[in-house]
Amino acid sequence: MQLVKKFGTVTAVDRLDLTVSEGEIYGLLGPNGAGKTTIIRILSSLLVPTSGEAYVLERRVPDKSIASNIGYMPQETALDTGLKVTELLEFYGEIFGLPRSAIIEKENELLRFVDLEAWKNTLIAHLSGGMKHRVSLACALIHDPCLLFLDEPTVGVDPELRLAFWDHFHALKDTGTTILITTHYMDEARRCDKIGFIRRGRIIAEGSPTELLEKTETTSLEDAFVEFSRQEVTP
Ligand SMILES: Nc1ncnc2c1ncn2[C@@H]1O[C@H](COP(=O)(O)OP(=O)(O)O)[C@@H](O)[C@H]1O
Ligand SMILES: [Mg+2]
Repeated sequence: MQLVKKFGTVTAVDRLDLTVSEGEIYGLLGPNGAGKTTIIRILSSLLVPTSGEAYVLERRVPDKSIASNIGYMPQETALDTGLKVTELLEFYGEIFGLPRSAIIEKENELLRFVDLEAWKNTLIAHLSGGMKHRVSLACALIHDPCLLFLDEPTVGVDPELRLAFWDHFHALKDTGTTILITTHYMDEARRCDKIGFIRRGRIIAEGSPTELLEKTETTSLEDAFVEFSRQEVTP
């Protein structure tokens, strides 16, 4: 790919090569400003790379034709706040052309999953930030996408629900869904099949959580990240 994205003088993504295999949960891990959101936005066809090329589901992106196969949960929730929770979910279902009965069935399943059944008739404007975040996750899942881009999906979500989210991500993986997720919670990163440590728009190390710990002889992914960063600056 050798993907590059510049914003003026800032290089947000710097000659990046990233491959996510079908059916895996791939976690992009790195500090704020490392380029994670930019990568996800390019792969979701929302940003055009400055140079290099990226392929998603065998199509060179940006390509709107793959939208119905992709679920994207943005880091910043920009939900239409004039709607109730169910209205927004149904709106998304309709965008994807799902039949009414399928939308209602999926909606009920997702409301249970994100624990918002009691709030389903509430205006989104009246929900807390964490709740809006959960609505956003439900919206990304309404059309059963085979590829999911989740940008910090568990920020502002309480620890118990966070665990439930991860169980659900694994259940989705078991049905063949591929997930590219960003997080800066190291405990969550352990639940990914593969991790890419990202720093200044580049992958500085990649592998399973166990491999990354073994390579650096550390016991926490945080320490592993620091070690790889150190190796990068003093080769
Ligand atoms: N739309 C934009 N305009 C200008 N700079 C941007 C824009 N989006 C991101 N950046 C910059 O690109 C870099 C990477 O940002 P981002 O992809 O959001 O990182 P992360 O998600 O890892 O925190 C940062 O320096 C950020 O300030
Ligand atoms: Mg981000």
